Amino acid sequence: MDQTIAALPKVELHLHLEGAAPPAFIRGLAAEKKEDISGVFDAQGNYSYTDFWHFLKVYEAATSVLRTPEDYKRLTLAVLEESAASGVVYSETFLSPDFCGGRDVGAWKEYLHAIREAADQAERTMGITLRGIITCIRHFGPEKARETALCAAETAGDWITGFGIAGDEKVLEPKDFLWSFDCAREAGLRITAHAGEWQGPQGIRDTLRALNPERLGHGVRAIEDLALVDELAERGTVLEVCPGSNVALGLYKDTRAHPINELDRRGVKVTVSTDDPPFFHTTMAQEYAALNAAFDWDGGQFRRIARQSLDAAFCDADTKAKIAKKLEA
Ligand code: ADE
Ligand code: ZN
Repeated sequence: MDQTIAALPKVELHLHLEGAAPPAFIRGLAAEKKEDISGVFDAQGNYSYTDFWHFLKVYEAATSVLRTPEDYKRLTLAVLEESAASGVVYSETFLSPDFCGGRDVGAWKEYLHAIREAADQAERTMGITLRGIITCIRHFGPEKARETALCAAETAGDWITGFGIAGDEKVLEPKDFLWSFDCAREAGLRITAHAGEWQGPQGIRDTLRALNPERLGHGVRAIEDLALVDELAERGTVLEVCPGSNVALGLYKDTRAHPINELDRRGVKVTVSTDDPPFFHTTMAQEYAALNAAFDWDGGQFRRIARQSLDAAFCDADTKAKIAKKLEA
């Protein structure tokens, strides 16, 4: 790996907190709680799944051992340690009240308090800044999403900065979640939505029309319709692109076949993230190395992408100014 590329300061906008859990951490927690989740791992101790839908099941099984605010505090520290080791200086993570306290507002506040304690500690000791985006889960349905949105509205502020939707994009329609997105927007939260990963251009169009997000999680299948690519470029919609995730889940055969370079060339604001790094055998440093090898992206290109990512971050201006100094250093 080119060490100058690997060492560049990085901004990550698309990271699921539970999906970033190191497998050894989840195994250790399961052992402490005497829980058998052996089906989650392969013989080498890595997460094991056959396709995206099985991945979602394994993800939920691994997450089932995270049951207290203290578990989430430890998880957050373990995840930020990995991110910081990859040169990430600013990260936004998806948080799901579905997993943190079962969408009960009081319980959710306790989980959030614990996560923030870990984030504060990591900022002091590792120099990485974290913010949270509350995320409903599409295949859990609109009713649960409403409860999630209420948790989000209750804790919106300078740390919980956004609201989004993840999960199985082939289930239900973006418009089914309109109430939740309106609720989050009214609470001052910025909006992102997973789209254009498992659905093609029409799924992206439906998401833009129904939810008007400023960022899309993935969005890469816009490349199948160049009029939509132009529309994304004109709107300034930011794509949270996760090349390693898309390759690991079989959307593209390798990084060279991934559309990130073409989307960038066509004027779409692309950013680079890992999604669920240990599930996809990746890190931010490895994403940079793969893009360097596939498209010759150099230090100048990565600095431009990091700056574009920071501009698209949901945090306040003072935080951005502080992170900008680290990107310039
Ligand atoms: N949840 C965790 N990772 C996801 C992905 N890549 N797409 C949709 N939902 C997810
Ligand atoms: Zn995702």
